[in-house]
Amino acid sequence: MTNNQEQMTNKTTETTLTGGTIEYEDFSCEIGVLGPMLYTLCQDHWQEVQIGHVVQGSVLELSFLEPPKIFVLYDGYLTVATEAWHLHLCVEEHLGGPHCKTPPELRKQRLVTRGALYRRLNRQGKPTSWGIQFWNGDGEKMMTFFLPNPYLGEDEDLLPEGKPQWKKLGLYETLREIYVLGNQPIPFPENPLKRPYLAVCRSSRCNPSRNWQPTYDALKAATEEAGLDIPVQTAGCLEVCQQGPVVFYSGDRSWYVQAKPELAKRIVNEHIIAETPISEYLYPQNSNQ
Ligand code: FES
Repeated sequence: MTNNQEQMTNKTTETTLTGGTIEYEDFSCEIGVLGPMLYTLCQDHWQEVQIGHVVQGSVLELSFLEPPKIFVLYDGYLTVATEAWHLHLCVEEHLGGPHCKTPPELRKQRLVTRGALYRRLNRQGKPTSWGIQFWNGDGEKMMTFFLPNPYLGEDEDLLPEGKPQWKKLGLYETLREIYVLGNQPIPFPENPLKRPYLAVCRSSRCNPSRNWQPTYDALKAATEEAGLDIPVQTAGCLEVCQQGPVVFYSGDRSWYVQAKPELAKRIVNEHIIAETPISEYLYPQNSNQ
């Protein structure tokens, strides 16, 4: 593949060494765009997309067998988890937990800074595959989303010549209308990645976070009792790693330590509902960022 790229509005064409081309059509990588698009791909169309990585000499393609059990944004990284595999994609600056210790140049390097719908065309100019490509701040290729291919049937078998299933291009065409051409509005009233949630660390490094279950149960009970539409979930590590149980509220990026069930209840009633943080348990102290 060469870097022979030709700029035409938001369309770029890359020539491959086999005589074919890849056409890229860029879209904005603001979180207000990436959130809805990634939600559409992973939550609404999980049966149709595959996720992976393509570089010369290596291809990875992962399928969903069921909807992801986790789809959450924490400290800039979107995590999508299935029973068998999970991925992390940096869609906002990764600040580095409550201490914001990620250096600015590393924040920029990790971030998705370019995204494009693509079509691969053979040397006769006929499209052969469709997808979405992301690049990081260093211009390196990150994750690839493989979109439905009309030439492939069940189990990825090649369909007979002349019998492509063109309707499989519907997802590509809809995404192009919304995110590249702007002919349709983004179909979400609010960014699905920005819905506030509560998380409890279930890793044992912040001993005694291994006692997370009563805290989780208390948060669940308190949010339900208050009628709040705020999901409660568990997390692998919330970058505090001491004085557990540790609780994170994404609504205003707050961490709480020593969050026993009684404090969990107060977090919901005082911090979230009354908007009065419980300062003696916030982490780090003197900070509510
Ligand atoms: S292990 Fe619990 S916050 Fe890191």
